[in-house]
Amino acid sequence: MNPTLETRILPAGEAAVAAAARTLAAGGLVAFPTETVYGLGADAANPTAIAHLYAAKGRPAFNPLIAHVSDLAAARKIARFDAAAEKLAHAFWPGPLTLVLPKADGCVVADLATAGLDTVAVRVPAHAVAREILRAFGGPVVAPSANLSGHVSPTTAAHVDSDLAGRIDLIVDGGPVEVGVESTIVGCFDSPMLLRPGGVPREEIERALGRALAQPPQEIESDSAQPLAPGMLASHYAPRTRVRLQADSVERGEALLAFGLHRLHGADNAVAMLNLSERSDLDEAAANLFGYLRSLDAKGARTIAVMPIPNEGLGEAINDRLRRAAVGRA
Ligand code: TXA
Ligand code: MG
Repeated sequence: MNPTLETRILPAGEAAVAAAARTLAAGGLVAFPTETVYGLGADAANPTAIAHLYAAKGRPAFNPLIAHVSDLAAARKIARFDAAAEKLAHAFWPGPLTLVLPKADGCVVADLATAGLDTVAVRVPAHAVAREILRAFGGPVVAPSANLSGHVSPTTAAHVDSDLAGRIDLIVDGGPVEVGVESTIVGCFDSPMLLRPGGVPREEIERALGRALAQPPQEIESDSAQPLAPGMLASHYAPRTRVRLQADSVERGEALLAFGLHRLHGADNAVAMLNLSERSDLDEAAANLFGYLRSLDAKGARTIAVMPIPNEGLGEAINDRLRRAAVGRA
């Protein structure tokens, strides 16, 4: 990795889209907005570009990436769709759903990007800027979240800049993202399996499928194994400050990540306080989650205390990310 790259930041628009497509074609790294979080894109067919991407993120090389494509026709060139996959693609694309599917014959996605698996993760994002970049580039773009490995995912161009300035070529600034948590990942195996809760709630997927989603065999707790979905790495989403979940009071020296209007004992003494959603709206809370974690992480608090969040709708993804944020930090 070259730590002294000059990272350009361009506001979303025609010039930025053209620059993004050119940079990708030249093997460069481009951060761009999707509806979930900002992604760090590289040409999915270019192993050298992908190696640079892993280096820029400081990500373990076995962590496979999502290939982003502009539409279902482009997805069919890299992956094989069974009946369940067809249903899900029609119901939720473009949108915050990733499907893990068998690679198609002639799939151009580099083995490095799929960590040598015979499956590939595919998604058609809904964000207008992401789609324009994919169309202009004309091939699949692998894009993990555009943060340093282990940091929380970026929901603004400024977050990307603070993690990756000097390590990537271009940031396309499309403003804050809408959804705020990453895509839901469904493995289309013998029975469709929820690999990562995310921007499409489980209930909606089960309704579209007409059946319950299977659970992965085990939760992955460390970097040591070859994970099914390494987004499951236990400390993947950790801020530097310790995180305390299910808080029912605030202790001295703590910052508070609140939800709803209920006022906790000791809240007045919090070092800092941000409310994910005063009106207890889980969609609003998801959109605020990573930005608020970053802000509270910067307050020098002893701990970030987090109020309970209901586990329905996007709450399942929010609680999943919060559990990861709470693991593995002293
Ligand atoms: O919303 C999102 O999905 C964002 C935006 C940028 O699209 N991307 C994102 O990528 O979250 P990343 O790299 O942070 O997470 C990708 C997840 C990882 O947990 C990875 O293990 C899983 O997808 N994955 C990729 N390919 C896989 C495969 N073949 N089998 C199982 N899991 C896979
Ligand atoms: Mg990530």
